[in-house]
Amino acid sequence: MRMLLIGAPGAGKGTQAALLAARFGIAHISSGDLLRQHVRDRTPLGLRVKSYVDHGDLVPDGVVMDMLRKPVLAASSGYVLDGFPRTVEQAKAAYEVVRALGAEVQAAIHLDVPRDELVRRLLARGRGSDDTDTVVEHRLQVYRHNTVPLLEYYAGREWMFTVDGARSADTVHEDIVDRIKKLASFTQAPS
Ligand code: AP5
Ligand code: MG
Repeated sequence: MRMLLIGAPGAGKGTQAALLAARFGIAHISSGDLLRQHVRDRTPLGLRVKSYVDHGDLVPDGVVMDMLRKPVLAASSGYVLDGFPRTVEQAKAAYEVVRALGAEVQAAIHLDVPRDELVRRLLARGRGSDDTDTVVEHRLQVYRHNTVPLLEYYAGREWMFTVDGARSADTVHEDIVDRIKKLASFTQAPS
């Protein structure tokens, strides 16, 4: 199974991706977690991306694509992508790569959460340098500017759906599982 999660900062992408990975026995691949690990390890990639991540700006597409290629190709039983793609350009570039492999994504899940709840969750969590008032505000702007167009680009595809992400994590998870089981892409080609 191959799926991806789209949602604003704090929408619960990481939380739901972990639940889906455990439920379906697939890999959880988080672009943000991988970038933060590089920053912590001070790798050349980490040094290059640190200031983007700290300020809540998107890391250049090529860097993210290069970083994700290996874990995605290694995920032989499938994956749930958390935080990628988050621009139309990333979606188009990734599609070219996976189409050649016959490994197109089978479900795109949009987690919809009101802004006040997003801010509440992020400030309560306080993850390192990017969960401050100012950076959270900037991340939300970046989401509106760069990722909302991706939702519009995917709108109407039969493998894309929106769930109300403001409910409890378990309720959201069960809703997602129900919805993906109904998708033709899963019933026709379980993998
Ligand atoms: P990334 O790590 O993807 O951060 P984000 O999109 O800002 O989202 P978060 O990880 O903060 O939130 P989440 O949706 O995962 O929610 P979570 O489950 O943690 O990206 C970080 C940075 O990396 C970017 O700013 C950018 O610089 C760079 N980057 C990443 N991907 C990139 C890409 N593709 N291209 C370019 N740059 C990229 O939940 C949040 C909190 O809420 C937690 O405390 C959780 O416990 C709680 N919570 C979750 N669900 C619920 C619920 N249902 N009810 C109550 N609380 C809940
Ligand atoms: Mg996350």
